[in-house]
Amino acid sequence: MDDRARRFHVASRMASIAPFEVMEIQTLARRLEAQGRDVIHLEIGEPDFATPAPVVEAAKRALDAEPMFYTSALGIPALREAISRFYAERYGVEVPAERVVVTAGSSAALLLAFGVLLDAGDEVLLSDPGYPCNRHFVHALGGEPRLVPVGADSRYQLTPELALRAWSPRTRVAMVASPSNPTGTLVEPGEIAALAALARARGATLLVDEIYHGLTYGRDARTALEAGDDVFVINSFSKYFQMTGWRLGWLVAPAPYVREIEKLAQNLYISPSTLAQHAALAAFEPATIAILEARRRELAQRRDVLLPALESLGFRIPVKPEGAFYVYADCAALTDDSFAFARAVLENAGVAITPGKDFGRHAPQRHIRIAYTQPVARLEEAVARLRDHLRAGS
Ligand SMILES: Cc1ncc(COP(=O)(O)O)c(C=O)c1O
Repeated sequence: MDDRARRFHVASRMASIAPFEVMEIQTLARRLEAQGRDVIHLEIGEPDFATPAPVVEAAKRALDAEPMFYTSALGIPALREAISRFYAERYGVEVPAERVVVTAGSSAALLLAFGVLLDAGDEVLLSDPGYPCNRHFVHALGGEPRLVPVGADSRYQLTPELALRAWSPRTRVAMVASPSNPTGTLVEPGEIAALAALARARGATLLVDEIYHGLTYGRDARTALEAGDDVFVINSFSKYFQMTGWRLGWLVAPAPYVREIEKLAQNLYISPSTLAQHAALAAFEPATIAILEARRRELAQRRDVLLPALESLGFRIPVKPEGAFYVYADCAALTDDSFAFARAVLENAGVAITPGKDFGRHAPQRHIRIAYTQPVARLEEAVARLRDHLRAGS
């Protein structure tokens, strides 16, 4: 061990925590912008819309009216009740407010869920490709992420059959995201029910990430909470409600876990943001929902413009994404190295996209993720630039 390593010891768990490759792309993009280049950002996983005005107004009122003290670690009762009503009204599912835990983004919900479920060495089944933080949360808590390669044949999702094949005596959690990041595909309710039954039969737990709910096109998603009161569901104000920077999400947990989750949240971060919670009370108002639904229609239109345009350039999109705001495109006809491709596209065409590498180990070199978090005109400009770049290269 050299002197530096002795003086600045880094915990060994950090060796398995990887950085986001997309940040590298973003750093390069910022450098180009500083040189005066125009970059079209299709790499970022957040909506380009501002937080709806009624939510901002509610925050302003709360600043004058409410003392900004800590709240209960589980969240303010009014918000937990509003979320419970949202499940009744939107999904027709009864979820008692006592099972709703308001969290610091769904990131904290994931941390709490894995924190109360995993013992050291316990395995979590995750789809590959999938949202990269999941495996890092599992690692950080001493668990073992078990990445299950998924492809177009299972709509890029962990099916009950794939889960069964990957199941081991140490499997403690099976996790799916519907719609998924990076693929935008949904898990059908029948498969959610089968996954829940499989987990139940083996004394394990199904955890479903519903953070992209509300952002589905041509269909509404059903919540996994209808599959039983032993399923964990996480959700967030980040994506559909367009409040990424407010850092607010929630977790619906089976009743016996709520007290454990409360203890963990108290210790990890005391309570979610008081201001954000008061603002979020306005997120469910009809005026806010009307704004959000108009934006959802806009996102659907963007997807419908982008998909055929990308296919005309030679990208393959074998499963039509039905939700989120991502296209996970197979670029094998254009390159055998998606990472080099993403860099070249950025440098030559001024379009920032995310290489597959961020989302797992299953064929990352032949995939890229494109986020349609830009208006239609910018997407069309991005496609034109990509076309020129590909022509110049051929
Ligand atoms: C699938 C998925 N889950 C969870 C998160 C975490 O989001 P937040 O902590 O903002 O709720 C993200 C963020 O991009 C995501 O894509």
